Amino acid sequence: MSTYTLDTSTSRANPTPAPMRRLTVPKLQARKGGDPIVALTAYTTRMAQLLDPHCDLLLVGDSLGQVVYGLPSTIPVTLDMMCAHGAAVVRGSWQAVVGIDMPFGSYEASPAQAFESASRVLKETGAAAVKLEGGEAMAETVAFLVARGIPVIGHVGLTPQAVNVLGGYGARGKDEAETQKILADARAISDAGAFALVVEGVVDELASEITRAVRSPTIGIGASAQCDGQILVTEDMLGLFERTPRFVKRFDDLAGRIAGAAEAYAREVRARSFPGEEQLYRVQK
Ligand code: KIV
Repeated sequence: MSTYTLDTSTSRANPTPAPMRRLTVPKLQARKGGDPIVALTAYTTRMAQLLDPHCDLLLVGDSLGQVVYGLPSTIPVTLDMMCAHGAAVVRGSWQAVVGIDMPFGSYEASPAQAFESASRVLKETGAAAVKLEGGEAMAETVAFLVARGIPVIGHVGLTPQAVNVLGGYGARGKDEAETQKILADARAISDAGAFALVVEGVVDELASEITRAVRSPTIGIGASAQCDGQILVTEDMLGLFERTPRFVKRFDDLAGRIAGAAEAYAREVRARSFPGEEQLYRVQK
C-alpha cells in the first residue's frame, strides 16, 4: 500500500501545506548545459522539508547505510530500507524531483529483476525516478526500465556498491585504460536513456570530458565544476562527521553545534534549571 497520500498537513511532520509544484524529470533533463542542477541526499521527512526549497533533485542515496544505520558500506542496504526512507522524503518535499537508489542485489541479475524492484520503489514511495550504479553492463537494464516508464539516473566512475571489486573508494580515471572504460560506461548509460548521470570520484579532466561527451546532464560528486550539477551527502556538507573525503566542503559544523547543545542541556538538567517556568504546565485558576 502507498504511504505517501496521507494528509498530514496539520501535523508537526508537515508544517508547510504547500501545493505540489514538482519539477519534472524532462525539465531536469533539459538542464544539460544550462543552470547547474543542485542536488543533495535526504533520508528523512524533516531533512527533506529543509532542503527541498533549495534543491532541484533530492536523492535518497543508499549512503543511508553508513550515515543512518552505521553500516560499513552500502552493500547490506535493503529494498525495504530504501522504500521506507524514500516515502519519508517524498512526504517532506513538494518541488524537487525525488530519486531513489536501487540497493545492491536488487537490480543486477536481469532487466526483469530491476523492473520488479524499481516498480516497487516507485509505487511505495511516490518518487519520480530510481538511480542505479554501473556502466556498459547495465545499459540493457537502463533501456529496459526507461522503455517501461521508469526514469533512471545512472552512476559511473567510483561506484561504491562495487567496493569489493574496486578495492576501495579512491578516485578513478588516473590511467588511460581506466579513463577509456569510464568514458565508455558513461556513453553507454546515457545512450540507454538515463535522464541524468552521477559521476563520482573521478579526476577533473575525465569528468569534464564525460560532460562534453554525453547527452544526459552530469551530476558530479568528487568530480568537476564543469559537470551540469553537483551533489553531496547532506550530512557531510553539514559537518556532521569528523572524517570526510577530500571532495567534501563543510558548509557548517553541525557535529560541534549538536555536541554544544547536548552539553548545555545536560548542564541545565543537572542544575535543575531545565525545565524552567516557561516550559511548565500549571493548573488554570
Ligand atoms: O548513495 C548516495 O548517497 C549516492 C550519492 C552520493 C551520489 O550515490
